[in-house]
Amino acid sequence: MAEILPPNMLSERPQTPAGLLSSREKDRLIERGFLGLYRWYTARSQETRNWNADRSFDWKALSKDLPPEIVTVTQGFFAVEQYAPDFTSSLLNLVRRSHGRSHFQLRWGSEEEKHADAWENAVLFSGKRTPQWIAEYKERLKSQTWELPFPDAIHNLVYTVFQERATQLNYLNMMKIAQGKSDKPHLAGFSDPVLAKVAQTIAVDEAAHYNFFLEGVRMYLYYYPQRTLEAIKNVIGQFSMPASMLVPDWKEFSETVYHAGIYGPRDFNRDVMQVAFRNLGIESRKALEEGIRKTREVPDFDGHNHQTTAIFDTFDYGMVEGDVKRLHLKIQDYEKEIGFDEVDPTEFVENPAVPRTGSKSGGQAADD
Ligand SMILES: [Fe+2]
Ligand SMILES: [Fe+2]
Repeated sequence: MAEILPPNMLSERPQTPAGLLSSREKDRLIERGFLGLYRWYTARSQETRNWNADRSFDWKALSKDLPPEIVTVTQGFFAVEQYAPDFTSSLLNLVRRSHGRSHFQLRWGSEEEKHADAWENAVLFSGKRTPQWIAEYKERLKSQTWELPFPDAIHNLVYTVFQERATQLNYLNMMKIAQGKSDKPHLAGFSDPVLAKVAQTIAVDEAAHYNFFLEGVRMYLYYYPQRTLEAIKNVIGQFSMPASMLVPDWKEFSETVYHAGIYGPRDFNRDVMQVAFRNLGIESRKALEEGIRKTREVPDFDGHNHQTTAIFDTFDYGMVEGDVKRLHLKIQDYEKEIGFDEVDPTEFVENPAVPRTGSKSGGQAADD
């Protein structure tokens, strides 16, 4: 088809060096991976996490004497989660042409919506906020719209990995407090089994979300290492929790969360960033920044910087390849169960650009 393009456009055609995958092929492989992962995820979600925000908890048994700090935190969790329709519609729009990703966003939205309803029930049944107060608060929250933190799909995908892990961590630490395990003097002696169950149930969902988005980022990292590492660097450089600019009492909420030992900058570094890095084969933030800097020093021929080798020193590509292969095995097992393998199987295709020697280590599965 090249001959029908005007000559001045020939140089704009993206060139694929011989033996490498074209962007179109990479996009197709990533799309197939997402579709398979989405199918697997949905079946699993319905089988193992099909809880209900009203019926799954004994709301009447929730303590009427929750510490005020716990009510503040619960209310903040509710405030963030109740933007679920905004989160979902914005992200959905971004990926609407992808079957696996857009259908997943709907499923994901339906799970986030349950989180909002469960936290709202917790605030209501605590008896510390009147229904009228909650209605007005909700109106105030909903008068603002949550917008995407980044303009493109890859940055938002990366952002979601860190955000889901951070959210999971918040809820796990809330669960520990509600189980009576807080070492903070102002929360000593407090426990509430209903609240502990709520926090635990939602934290399990967040772990599943983290894992879905993590698998997506791994596929991007495998087929588009340069672009993905740049996105990771940009996202961690300006990470903040969703809706932090929209919730009117955010400052009080985040300070209460910090003093309760639930979440703060140290937790982000240690239990969010480093965990995600480990799952993505990145040694540290320093190694990431250094690696990206080096790839920019690679000689630039004819205005095209192919960066074929330097980028692979920035992360453990052998581990990421192992993880992407494992994801495909998981999808293939699922497809065999249904019969997709006989009609339209998902297949793993190696990225020929990945160096075949010098892989640093074996893989490590993410938490499910
Ligand atoms: Fe959530
Ligand atoms: Fe989530």
